[in-house]
Formats: sequence, C-alpha cells, structure tokens
Amino acid sequence: MSTKLKILNVELGDKSYPIYIGRDLLSDKTHFEKHISGHQVMVVTNSTIEPLYLEKVNNLLGNFEVQVTILPDGEQYKTLETVNSIFDALLEEKFDRSTTLIALGGGVVGDITGFAAASYLRGVDFIQIPTTLLSQVDSSVGGKTGVNHTLGKNMIGAFHQPRAVIIDVDTLDTLPIREFSAGMAEVIKYALLGNIEFLSALEKNIDSIKRGLHQEDKGLLIDAIYRSCSYKAEIVSVDEFESGVRRLLNLGHTFGHGIENVLGYGTYLHGEAVAIGMCMAARLSQLEGNLSVEDVDRVKSILTLAGLPCSIGKYNITATQLYKAMMLDKKVIDGNIRLVLFLCLGDAYISQDYSEENLKQVLSEFCHS
Ligand code: NAD
Ligand code: GLY
Repeated sequence: MSTKLKILNVELGDKSYPIYIGRDLLSDKTHFEKHISGHQVMVVTNSTIEPLYLEKVNNLLGNFEVQVTILPDGEQYKTLETVNSIFDALLEEKFDRSTTLIALGGGVVGDITGFAAASYLRGVDFIQIPTTLLSQVDSSVGGKTGVNHTLGKNMIGAFHQPRAVIIDVDTLDTLPIREFSAGMAEVIKYALLGNIEFLSALEKNIDSIKRGLHQEDKGLLIDAIYRSCSYKAEIVSVDEFESGVRRLLNLGHTFGHGIENVLGYGTYLHGEAVAIGMCMAARLSQLEGNLSVEDVDRVKSILTLAGLPCSIGKYNITATQLYKAMMLDKKVIDGNIRLVLFLCLGDAYISQDYSEENLKQVLSEFCHS
C-alpha cells in the first residue's frame, strides 16, 4: 500500500480547496506557502500540541510575520470567550484582512480557529492542520466552524471553508489510543453510510490500520483517511450548507449527542457516543424492517474491533432522559427527531416517519429503565 502523498479536492467553485494526506508533511513548506496570500499568519494551537508540533510548523513559516496563540486544552474552552482571546491577539498585533489563521490541533482547536477566521474583520483565510484522527476525517473538512453555548453544543457558528487541509498522519503517533478509536467511529460511519466494499476492507484490515499508528508502513491508515475524506468531500460539494444529503453524515449522532448530553461531556468521547448511536440506529433500522439480525451484529462487530463501545454500559440513563436530550438536538424540526437510518448496510436515508413505538423500544433496550 502506497504511503505517497495523496491529494483530494473539495469542489466548491471559487471556495474549492485541496486536502493533502501523507507522511511528514510538517517538514514540507510547499503545501503551506501556496495557500497563504498575505504576510501575516497566526497559528492557533493548544497546550498539549504546542510542545509536540508547534516548532515544526513555525519552521515552515520563516517567510511570514508569525504570531502564536496557545489555548488551554479541552472541550470546555470551546467558547466565545476563547474566540475573543484570539481576536484580542489579532487586534493587538494589528493583523489585517490578508491574515491567515492556522489551526494546529484536534477538532476543538479547528472549530474555534475556523470560527475566529469566519468572523475576524468579517472573514479571513484559514488553514487546517488536524492532528487527531477524528479531525482528519471529519471536522477539518467541510467548513463547519463554531463554539458551544451553555445551553447547547456547537450552537454558535458559521460555515467557513479553509483554504487547505494538511493531514500529516505522523502526528497520530502521539495520539492516545482511546482518541484514535474515537476517530475510527467516524471512519466506520462513512463505510456504513455509503460503501460496503470499504466496510469489508475495514473488517479485514482494522488491526493493521491501528498498528499503522506507530509503524513505518502507514499505507492502510492513509488509505482509510483518504477514503473517508473523499466521501465527505463529495457530500460537502453537493450540499455545503446541510440542506439535504449532508444530513446523512449525522448517522448515530442524534442518539450520540443525547448520550453525551445526559452523561455530561467527557464521560464518553464524541466518537464513542456516536458508536453507541450507530448501534441504536442499526437496531431501529432492524425494527423498521430494513436490516437483519446479522447486519446489526456486523455493525457491532466492526465497532468492537475498533475498540468502541456498543452499549451505554454501566451508566444509569433512563429512556425518558435520553429521549428528552435527543429533542434538544439541532436536527429536531417541529418536535420531530430526524434520524439517519439504514436502508441496508452501505446505504442510509433520513427519516422522520419511523414508528415512535420502535424508537421507544430501542431507547428502553439500550437504557437501564
Ligand atoms: P480534541 O480536539 O479535544 O482532541 C482530543 C485530545 O487529543 C485533546 O486533548 C487534544 O489536545 C489531544 N491531541 C490532539 N492531537 C494530538 C496529537 N497528535 N497527539 C497527542 N494529543 C493530541 O477532540 P477531537 O476529537 O479532535 O474533536 C472533537 C471536537 O470536534 C468537538 O468539539 C466536536 O464538536 C468537533 N467536531 C466538529 C466537526 C465539524 O464538522 N466542524 C465534526 C466533528 C466534530
Ligand atoms: N460532521 C458532520 C458534517 O460536517 O456535516
């Protein structure tokens, strides 16, 4: 399997941009320089990533006036207050409209930096350097940016596409394995949604992909990231603002967000909650007559192989609590919870007319009471 640089394009007319995927990309300035139009650059990262990768990125930016903002690490800092601290730094340094922001980190840093770029001086350029698997296959691609509000996750935000996404898979070497597995939930999501052959490849190769984290041959890992980004890029190209087909990417998410909301953020990582949510979506699809028992077992089996949970486990959530939490989701329209369900493995649809009884049965099977 080749570990050579792979390049994908997100086709969005004059907002189109490349995704570079490969090894050791943080040692190669060519991909950076051509996407920075002005002279001023602000790198935004966090206190965990800074000692690992900031020096490498700074070394690529010798031709620019560079400032760095280091954020505290954690979802709890994904707030307007943090965005404001980036504005403070930009304004103090008199950064102008030709500024480029660079997000160096996982989805939290990417979402915050993207939102700062979307709103600073009514919009400046930004580049994503995602360093978690989840951010490499999901959050860095597609232009969703934003922060949390005390009343809900990702409630304040904007669509703002990056100028480029630079995925150096070697950054995953330092990622904790639990975070890696959480990212695999999104990789598996793409296979379950749209590509049964990709699902078979993941079933065959999942151990090698995980070992690729620290091994010299990262071809299978690069291939899985490439296939995930290709699927997402294709969907974003036809539905940038999520008015239709992009909603499919929420497979497992409405259940997952409900679980995160009831248990408090951090009990399960986002990808872990989505994994449980995909099992719930599979079971509901079975009750709706679309999947077989074997299909549902196949979903659970691939998630388990990836090191992900398939049940809420020891945590005490009631079906009523989970239902109420799901009603808070952004995808609820006129009191109806819109869910992504399977037509079959490898194909999904958005449903608002599933049986309420079946939904309640799934919730009670997965919850303790
Ligand atoms: P994260 O950004 O919190 O990163 C997880 C942890 O890993 C953090 O502690 C981080 O500092 C650390 N880390 C990151 N890279 C590392 C590396 N290479 N080595 C060692 N440690 C590293 O979490 P995440 O899973 O990347 O992103 C989750 C966020 O993404 C959530 O806020 C979610 O809402 C958002 N998200 C956004 C979109 C979107 O389309 N914009 C999609 C999915 C998720
Ligand atoms: N994470 C889902 C999306 O970007 O649409």
